[in-house]
Amino acid sequence: MPRIPRRRTFLALAIALVVTLVAAQAMTGDHRPEYADWTRLNPQKNFITSAHPTAKDVYVNEVGAEAALTRSFPFPEGSELVKESTDTETLSVFVITAMRKVAGFDPENGDWQYGMFERMDDGSFGGMWAEVGSEMHAMCVTCHTGAADNDYAFLTYTGD
Ligand code: HEC
Repeated sequence: MPRIPRRRTFLALAIALVVTLVAAQAMTGDHRPEYADWTRLNPQKNFITSAHPTAKDVYVNEVGAEAALTRSFPFPEGSELVKESTDTETLSVFVITAMRKVAGFDPENGDWQYGMFERMDDGSFGGMWAEVGSEMHAMCVTCHTGAADNDYAFLTYTGD
């Protein structure tokens, strides 16, 4: 009878442990969308002049790109938009806001879930995707209702 190799048992346990750790990380860790390869919608940087000048860039994922670029609404389910704010002096991204279309999430307001993620003192990003009924969701919806004709996305910075 073949002996079950110890090493294989150890490997299985190690894999199980890593999977558990990754799952735990996903619950507590960085929930920012990974938008490095998304389409930037503003051809030029959008600068805000103030004591601390900021540049804003807005990115859309592949699912939402056509709707955003051709302005054909509504955005399909799975569309995501990210607005990234960069300090133009330090060149560090200090906050990103995001919206993602989740079917059935909030039908009265276009089914968008809103997220906000800020750089913490230690350099990591903290934040979350807000739930319907939360103050944050209500705040984002209040303003974005002004863009209801564009399926709640302002898209003011597209063009040149
Ligand atoms: C005071 C009004 C206001 C509030 C409140 C607001 N937004 Fe916006 N948002 C805007 C405007 C205006 C734009 C267009 C770009 C710009 O001018 O910065 C925008 C753009 C965005 C974009 C890029 C897509 C688009 O609509 O063009 C995202 C993503 C976004 N906001 C997320 C959020 C989230 C998340 C919240 C809540 C935490 C939020 N916004 C709250 C006014 C608001």
